[in-house]
Amino acid sequence: MKPIIYLDHAATSWPKPPEVLAAMEQALLHASANPGRGSHHMAVKAARILYGTRRVLAELFGVKNPNDIVLTSNTTEALNMALKGYLSEGDHVIATMIEHNSVRRPLEYLRRTRGIHVDYVQVDEEGQPDLQQINKMFRSNTRMLVCSHSSNLLGSILPLREIGEMVRGKGAVMLVDAAQSAGTLDINVEDLSIDMLAFPGHKGLLGPQGTGGLYISPTIELEPILHGGTGSQSEAIEMPTVRPDRYEAGTPNTVGHAGLLAGILKVQEWTPKMIYQHEWELTQLLMEGLMQNDDLRLLGPGLGKPRTGIVSFVSGQYSSSELAFRLDREYGIAVRAGYHCTPLAHMASDTEQTGAVRVSVGVTTTQEDISVMLTAMKEIYS
Ligand code: ALA
Repeated sequence: MKPIIYLDHAATSWPKPPEVLAAMEQALLHASANPGRGSHHMAVKAARILYGTRRVLAELFGVKNPNDIVLTSNTTEALNMALKGYLSEGDHVIATMIEHNSVRRPLEYLRRTRGIHVDYVQVDEEGQPDLQQINKMFRSNTRMLVCSHSSNLLGSILPLREIGEMVRGKGAVMLVDAAQSAGTLDINVEDLSIDMLAFPGHKGLLGPQGTGGLYISPTIELEPILHGGTGSQSEAIEMPTVRPDRYEAGTPNTVGHAGLLAGILKVQEWTPKMIYQHEWELTQLLMEGLMQNDDLRLLGPGLGKPRTGIVSFVSGQYSSSELAFRLDREYGIAVRAGYHCTPLAHMASDTEQTGAVRVSVGVTTTQEDISVMLTAMKEIYS
């Protein structure tokens, strides 16, 4: 088996920094009790880990009170909490055509079950929505705009500041899906007028799978979608009123979030700016190489323009799945082909029949990895 060239960071970053593995091992060995459910020393240690993770997340996202960050098992859970906990009968929501199924499916579910109204803003071929069109979409019952910070198919980066100001001016709230940007793009919830921010732990923040979270502005009261034990206000039949307990039922993933804490510390050491620059340079190298092949259509922002570490393309000659299969089996290169859980973005890119091959780089990707990928593509086409 050839050594793996891992170019699927948009799904899950890999490999993790050694500090993440060490922190998880330490947590399993010494802090694997139930946080907030006992006063013995292991339970206290576990609670300290979770608070530490909340604290560094708060620092990273410019959140004043770490308890406004709810820890979840992934971005999908966070988005479900925000959408199902906030929207009610008759509400209108604006979303975009680059949304992932983790936004689209809960919205469509709420359309069926609660009678909410949803409009999806069209995006151009570079994955950018028209701000004037968004402006025109607001109605008197618009309560929320939800959008991805960066498309998981196109790598486009949305102008959150402008969108956030518009949403605030209209008296609605903005929910941001930071699945492809947390750890790579600077995010300050106050500066960008973000009311709720859903993020993964296992991508740009370098933590393990099964981690993530939701920032909820102190001005927002969400209805909890999970009910159960919290270790606090146990005598009450309702969920506790205090955060984060109100939204965290059941035994949490302490070991995973210990790993996430270590991952965020690495991100802070390297800085999102440096990580973005590294990934951007690699995407440019990759694009320049792929653009030599006339059979390929590259999606998303053009060469030289801002983008996260994602380059997707469609081949005229090969199906997306065949290319991904051959890259894996013949060259040990891991990429993701198909629809990337974002049929809307594929509709917008006119790739709903073909799907696409998505190559995504991360902080550990090297120029050598890109050159192996480009050579493999040349050989496949030779
Ligand atoms: N949402 C992840 C992706 O884009 C899994 O691949």
